[in-house]
Amino acid sequence: MRIFSGTSNKFLAEKVAKKLNMELSGLEVFVFPDGEKRVRVLDKVLGEDTIVIQSTSTPVDENYMQLFFTIDALKRNGAKSITAVVPYFGYQRQDHVFREGEDVSVKVIAEILDKFQLNRLIAIDLHSVKIKEAFNLPVVQLSAMTIFAEEIMKMGWNKGSTTLVSPDTGGMRRIKILSEMLGNMPFAVIEKNRDLATGNVSAEKVEGKIGRKVIIVDDMISSGGTIAVAAELLKKQGAGEICVFATHAVFSEKAPQILQKAEVNKVYVTDTVFVPSEKRFPKLEILSVAKLISDQLKM
Ligand code: R5P
Repeated sequence: MRIFSGTSNKFLAEKVAKKLNMELSGLEVFVFPDGEKRVRVLDKVLGEDTIVIQSTSTPVDENYMQLFFTIDALKRNGAKSITAVVPYFGYQRQDHVFREGEDVSVKVIAEILDKFQLNRLIAIDLHSVKIKEAFNLPVVQLSAMTIFAEEIMKMGWNKGSTTLVSPDTGGMRRIKILSEMLGNMPFAVIEKNRDLATGNVSAEKVEGKIGRKVIIVDDMISSGGTIAVAAELLKKQGAGEICVFATHAVFSEKAPQILQKAEVNKVYVTDTVFVPSEKRFPKLEILSVAKLISDQLKM
């Protein structure tokens, strides 16, 4: 077996390889003066089971092209099997037509990946159940909810005083899974609105009763707007301490500053997306998905 890493999250790929007692195989990404890229596998893959790890976070288009070129290089060099591990799967939010005239971005990406006839695709906490259906190839979806449940138990926040809150109705499935893992911890949901033209978020109402301790659970944090408005509303409704658990630290624009200022005590994310030092902030805690991935690769 050989493991290759794209450039988007080598830090995580190295951790995964270490857990498998392996080293990353060589992959050269050459950038031409005009920005085009060429990928070259530096180890023999003929007849080998191969894995490529690449999160398709910002810069999303570049990271996707790099993933496609790496898969192509593995195929051309005779790899027996190819597993793509895409811990954060870019373009997944546009999983259907929201307004007339729009594309379905995730379907386009799925069709490209299907053409490569991958043996499997491994992703973590996909935005919706629809996404798996966009592919013809086998998709294994892992979830950070087990990691979050362990951390919440370590914090000692129990179901007597804590409520799990989804910042929108789309996150209800995740919240129910986490609630079960925590012995049926109570949960509530916020009615969130996003202006599709500006991206601005507003939160009017919490459906359900909340305790003094609140845990907001989301699949990703991009601008930080969802978390900031959800926390403000929850505080108004009587929440004392608020922690956030979100799988993907997309952290676009001013997210780190917004999250540091938001009415939350701590923000837990995972390392599906690499967070550079300039995007880290005092309230941030990063949990690793390396074991989740390596355990799956052992199967
Ligand atoms: C939306 O449906 C997602 O689950 C997240 O709540 C959203 O993508 C977060 O985005 P932002 O941080 O920009 O509000």
